[in-house]
Amino acid sequence: MRIAVIGGTGLIGTRLVTRLEADGHDVVVASRATGVNSYTGEGLAEALAGAETLVDVSNSDYLDEAAANEFFYGSTLNLLTYGAAAGVAHHVTLSVVGTDRLARTEGGYFAAKAAQERLVVQSGRPYSIVHATQFFEFIANIADAGTSRNLVRLSRALFQPMAADDVAAAVAATAVAPPLGRMVEFAGPERFQLEELVRRQLRLRNDLRDVVADPLARYFGTDLDERELLPGPDATIAPTRYEDWFAAGGRAYEPATAHPA
Ligand SMILES: NC(=O)c1ccc[n+]([C@@H]2O[C@H](COP(=O)([O-])OP(=O)(O)OC[C@H]3O[C@@H](n4cnc5c(N)ncnc54)[C@H](OP(=O)(O)O)[C@@H]3O)[C@@H](O)[C@H]2O)c1
Repeated sequence: MRIAVIGGTGLIGTRLVTRLEADGHDVVVASRATGVNSYTGEGLAEALAGAETLVDVSNSDYLDEAAANEFFYGSTLNLLTYGAAAGVAHHVTLSVVGTDRLARTEGGYFAAKAAQERLVVQSGRPYSIVHATQFFEFIANIADAGTSRNLVRLSRALFQPMAADDVAAAVAATAVAPPLGRMVEFAGPERFQLEELVRRQLRLRNDLRDVVADPLARYFGTDLDERELLPGPDATIAPTRYEDWFAAGGRAYEPATAHPA
């Protein structure tokens, strides 16, 4: 199957491309680094030519709602429009568990992700939306985003993070199946408090920053209730446990800009 992966050079994208190619698919790696810009449309028609499936695992370079919305809206509209013209039969989007709930705080990244999802749902195109929880690789970014003057302030909200490799597996399985016409959730096997797991990871990495529980701490511009990051009861549970991922040498992912999720 010919599959175009938008954001194919990113954290999830590289893992997804490796997995799909290993399974024998004809994969087009699309990102600005390969000459494809989903926001401007540059190189998009060529990248989508002959593709049966389009998988969007791209991300915005910016955190604030206005810039993130500008990217996700413009890019997703292009992907849907060029995709329809190219005869793409399945549009797959990766998003975040709880996006609809998290989007209610104005000014946050999640409002932009929610708008992206609405656009896909209302496009009339055959689609699947994959919701994943926070990646283990992203915990360092959560720590950095909560840091001010060497102190990390985070809420005790619960979350159920998962390994990026497991996210890629979930997206790959969704991409090669028929369009679902709905959202599906994937989550890690264990539940932690944000503050607790960030503290544990910093200690394991000999990072001396103090971590304090702050019930009013915002999460990438969003107010957080205790259970808002958790998946629903029908989520598929991924296999990799945090300790095993860490013991196997899981390293923090360090993109040029911290992306929220
Ligand atoms: N972080 C988390 O814990 C988490 C949890 C659940 C879901 N998610 C979602 O997962 C998705 C992927 O996240 P990620 O961490 O894998 O992202 P990432 O590592 O930051 O990768 C982003 C990708 O998008 C590409 N890209 C950016 N602007 C582009 C443009 N204008 N045209 C084409 N490609 C462009 C980048 O390549 P170039 O720079 O070469 O263009 C890169 O390949 C996001 O939508 C995020 O919301 C994240």
